[in-house]
This record gives sequence, C-alpha cells and structure tokens, in this order.
Amino acid sequence: MTDGLKKALCKTEYIIAKSAGFCFGVQRAVKMAETLASGADDCVTLGPLIHNPGVIRELAERGVVPIDSPDEASLGQKVILRSHGVDPATIEKLEKRGARIVDATCPFVKRIHRMVQEAFQKRITVYVVGEKEHPEVQGILGWAGGYGKAVLSVEEAMREPLIEKALIVSQTTLPQSVFREVSNALSTRIAHPEIRNTICPATEERQREAIELAARADRMLVVGGRNSANTRKLYMLCRERCEDTHLIESAEELSAIKSRWGIVIGMTAGASTPVCIFKEVVERMNDIEKQEQVQAVTEATETAATTANAEAISPEDDFMAGVEKTLVQLRPGQTVTGTVLQINDEEVCVNVGYKADGLIKKSDLSSTDVKVGDEIEVEVVKVNDGEGNVLLSQRNIVDRKNWDEIMARYENGEFVEGVGKEAVKGGLLANVNGVRTFIPASQLAQHYVEKISDFVGQELKLKIIEVDKAKKRIVASRKQVLQAEAAERKKEVWAKLEVGQELEGTVRRLTDFGAFVDIGGVDGLVHVTDLAWHRVNHPSEIVSVNQKIPVRILALDPEKERISLSYKATQPRPWDVAGEKYVVGSVVEGKVVRITTFGAFVELEPGLDGLVHISQCALTRIAKVEDAVNVGDIIRVKILDVNTEARRISLSIRAVLEDEAFDGLNSEENTPEDEYAIGEEPVEAAAEEPAEEAVQEPAAEAAEEAVQEEPAQTAEE
Ligand code: F3S
Repeated sequence: MTDGLKKALCKTEYIIAKSAGFCFGVQRAVKMAETLASGADDCVTLGPLIHNPGVIRELAERGVVPIDSPDEASLGQKVILRSHGVDPATIEKLEKRGARIVDATCPFVKRIHRMVQEAFQKRITVYVVGEKEHPEVQGILGWAGGYGKAVLSVEEAMREPLIEKALIVSQTTLPQSVFREVSNALSTRIAHPEIRNTICPATEERQREAIELAARADRMLVVGGRNSANTRKLYMLCRERCEDTHLIESAEELSAIKSRWGIVIGMTAGASTPVCIFKEVVERMNDIEKQEQVQAVTEATETAATTANAEAISPEDDFMAGVEKTLVQLRPGQTVTGTVLQINDEEVCVNVGYKADGLIKKSDLSSTDVKVGDEIEVEVVKVNDGEGNVLLSQRNIVDRKNWDEIMARYENGEFVEGVGKEAVKGGLLANVNGVRTFIPASQLAQHYVEKISDFVGQELKLKIIEVDKAKKRIVASRKQVLQAEAAERKKEVWAKLEVGQELEGTVRRLTDFGAFVDIGGVDGLVHVTDLAWHRVNHPSEIVSVNQKIPVRILALDPEKERISLSYKATQPRPWDVAGEKYVVGSVVEGKVVRITTFGAFVELEPGLDGLVHISQCALTRIAKVEDAVNVGDIIRVKILDVNTEARRISLSIRAVLEDEAFDGLNSEENTPEDEYAIGEEPVEAAAEEPAEEAVQEPAAEAAEEAVQEEPAQTAEE
C-alpha cells in the first residue's frame, strides 16, 4: 500500500463541541418566529433575527421578513424583537405605530436591561464593556438613558474621567479576559465601582470548550455567520491555539479548504448556527473524505491490495453515523445527564447533548445549589415544550427515586420517616420523602389523641398500611410502629429475665390484690402477700405509685406474659435480725396486740411480736392479764430472751417496773434487803405459769401461715 493510500484510508477523528450551535436565547427566538410563521398573522422581525443567512432566508420564504427600523412597522403587524433586545425608545415607537410586539429578547439580556434601568433611576453612570455598534450594546445603553457608555479596550477605559460611582456590565458574548482587563482599568477611574459580570454562561462555556478543543485538534472548523460577533470571537480564540482554524458559513466553503485526512478535526459553531447547517457541513466533509478515499483506492488498483482496501471503506465508518451518535435522541420519561449552561431567576438551561437545549423550571429543581458547569441528572418531561425547548425536570427523578425507595421499604415491612405537615379532618397529613402521606387519627398513637395539630412539625416514624400507586399517595400508622417497638422492647426484656433475679422497678398501679411494677418495659405483679413479711391489708400501706422499689422475680410465664414479683423477698426477715436488734436486757416500746389467759402479745415492729407472760405483767400477782394491760396499750417492756430459731421473744413489764422501783430506792438510799425482795418473787411466780415458749409459737406462726394462705398472685390479677 502506498503512503498516500495509507493516509487516505486512515480514519479521521472528528470531535464536535457539545456546546456547538444555537444557544438558549437564539433558539427561543427562532422557535417563536417559526411558530408565528405558521400562523395567519402578518409578522416581521426588527432586524435579521439571527446572524445566519440560511435561517433568515428560510423565515423569509415563510413570510417572516426583517424590517430595518420601527418606522417600517404597520398597524396591527406583529414585530418580533430579536434576542439582542432593543432600547425603550424603539419599543415606544413600535407602540405608537400600533404594532404588536413579540418580545424574543434573551432573558439574560433582559436581566442586564433591568440592572441598567435601576442605575439610571438613581442617576448612576453605566459602562458597558463591549462593542458600541453591536445591537445588544445599543439596546443596553438605551436603558441607561443618557448615563451609559460603551468601552472595549483598556486604553479607552483609562481615558475616562475620574468619577464617584458607576455600574460596569458586560456584553453577553465578551471573552472573560477582556471583561476582566477593561473592568479593572475602569475601576481605577471610579471611586465606588459596582462590577456585574453579565457574560452569558452559555457563551463562556462555548468559548472554554472551543479553546480546549483547539488545543487538541490538528484542524478546527468554526461554523457560523461572519457577521456574528460570537462566531468571530470563537474563531479568534481557536486560532490562537490551532493555526489550521477555518471559519465557514456553509458547506460550500469546504471546497476552498485543502483536504487533510487521518487527523483530528475539531468542530464548533456560533450561537446563531442552526444544527442543520452544522450537519450539512459534516455531511459534505464526509462526502469529500469518501470521494478522496475511493480515488486513492482506485489509484491503488494497480496493486493486488485494491480489493481488500476497497472493503475497508465500510459504511460503518461513515462519518455521519459518528455525528448522529453525538446528537442524542430523547423521549419523555428518559433520564439523561446534562451540563448546566445558564441559570436565571425562573429557569435553568441544561445541555443534554440534544440538538436543542433543555430547560428546568426552578420549581422542578430538587437542589437549589445548582451551579453553571454542574453535571446533573434530569428527566425529559417533553421533547418540545412548544417553543422548541426540551422540558426537563430534576425533581421528577428525585421523586421517582424516593417513591421507589418508599415502596421497597413498604414491601420489606420496614418503617419510614416523615414530618407532620397539616392537621386535617380525620387525621394528619405528613411528608414522607416528598410523598404525601395520610395518618388517620386512630393511627397516630396508642391512646386517643385530642389535639392532632400537636404532631405538626414533629418527626414521625411510620408504617405504611395502604398505597395508592396511581396517585402516589400512602396511608401510614404511627400506632403500629409504637406497638411494634413496645413488643420488641418486651421481647428484649423477657430474654434477660430469670427466676430469682433482683431488679429495680417502678410501681405503676395499685390494686386490692397487689402492686404492678414496671421492670424495664414489662410489668410484673407483687401480690399483696409478697409486699411485706407481716400481714398487709392494702398495698398502699407499703408502696406508692411511681415509687422505685427492689423486687425479686418469683415466677415467669412467657406464654401468658405473667411475671410474679416479690418485694418482701428483697427485705430482711424481721426474725433474721431480731437477735441483733433486740438485745437481752434492753427496754423497748411495743403495742399490746392480743391478750390470752397466759399473757399479752406485744408487737415490737410489724411482723415481730413478743410475749409478756402473765407473771411478768405486774409487780404483784394478778388474776388476769387485763388487770395489768389492755389491747392497744403502748407499753415499755424489757427483753428477757430472744430465740430466733424458735421465733420467740420473752418480754417483761414487771422487770421494767422493778428497775424503775430500784432506781427510785437507790435514789432514796434503799437497803439491799429491799432490793432483793423486789427482784426475787416474780421469778418464782413465773415458774408456776405455763411456759411462755409453749404458747408464743402458735401465735407468731399463725400470723405467718395466714399470710401464706393468700391466693397465688398472677400478673393477670
Ligand atoms: Fe442569550 Fe447567551 Fe444566547 S445571552 S442570546 S443565551 S448567547
């Protein structure tokens, strides 16, 4: 194969700038004109709609022709103002002539008009960094009244007089570097400059991309009208990086450019270049390349390689196919990734690689911190919104993801989180990840809810109980979550419980038969007989609601969920400590609780009685116990003996009286005989009476047995 053939058959790589072609503002204006062209109205544009002869010709063929001045407008005629915008004087003239204005001024330009108009109202000087003859700059200056001036170079800026205050704005298609230099120079002439960079983000992006492409490419083609300022700027910027840069208005001009194949060709286009012209250029290049390849192959037929080489030129290598691949096909509902080109007060313009740019209304944005240059996922709502734009939504994607996530949780029986939004009839409206959710009043809590509005603003854990997939609405229950959580807690507590375990609990409720005690999520019952070692008539004698008490687990019934607890088991038995507490010889106070023929039972403390034998009831012999004491009397007794094993305490009133008498005699210098006489007689008398051990036991045991005979307690009770 010859070198020429090799080179010719070597595949040329084409790189097409993503941002090439109509910008948002121009596309909008063209679509408005096309829509009017298909109607019956008499319609003109004030000046050529865009800097592209092909488009102007097409519109003219459909009856929309340009007029040069507002004076040419006629009564009732529709006059389209192009994306560059116009000054207020022009609008006034058109109105006076009775024309109907169709304003296709780009929203970015309109924004500058507003800034400048505000400055004019405050009589602040306005500098527009840009070409003073450019229609956009002319229009902006018009809104500044007599207070505006266009400046394009540092030299011009430095010639300006020193002033106090001024607003500096930019022509939308100016390169950043020019605006920076000129606005800096102007700032040195202004004491208080207000610099507003109004360069259109689409232009900035287009220029940035063109510069990058030109640095990589062997050849650059900039497609667009020579009278278009932004196309010329693109050409200049590319030329600085790639010497082999060409500005062409149409495919015909390609023949004037010498072919170079097997190289990298970068292509971009100005903001007024329609995609059809761009495609035409691409198609023509494809044809030329194919022709030249075929020619090279023909020349090579002299060699045996001809056939093989001819096969190499396959339709798959077709250049147009590559181009078509770069132009994305869209359908409603499709999710695509795009780059944010511009952001204004109402919408965000996104390049999705389609022939038209996409628009997202601010209300359809899910994130407010979107910036120019960000890559975002969007959903195609409409491929054409009626004005030629692709209608996109970011919120739809987020909503769909949220809905899918909620449904997955619903299907897995998982809970969801929401926030109470509004109390409505019969319940509460909540927001669960952007999905409208209704919670019936009966499902808000485990108890009756008096004030539903208390839940507004509250974060709520919910269980979805009903779904309307068509309307994307759900019905949820908070009550079921609370119930499930309580059941879970119960399960955890039950898993840790063991018979014999001692825990701290809180008394929740008292009944006649006992006290219900919360031991960490589950309630157990302390039966009235398990509250104390002595007989208790009502639990309130021992514990009160909300009191924290130690309890011991007596029995567990997981099936019936019953827990039997004992409080008394955690307390020492009175008899166990009686020996230490009641020392023989000491005198204590007690209450006479029962009288028998052989003595009086005296309660020293609940559950602990002692016996005063009849012989120990008085200093002298008495016929019956009542001669010395009566039930209910509070008396002082001396401890004669403590037998904890047999549970018996022997007490004596007489010993106390003797001690007192002895003390009295001592104080009056009584004789030792007197002392002896007082101490001796009762001991002998006591020996004649029945032994007190023999009678005390049944009384004490009877009391305890009576307690033990109470019915077995259960949580159910
Ligand atoms: Fe508007 Fe920017 Fe185009 S200002 S007309 S979107 S280049």
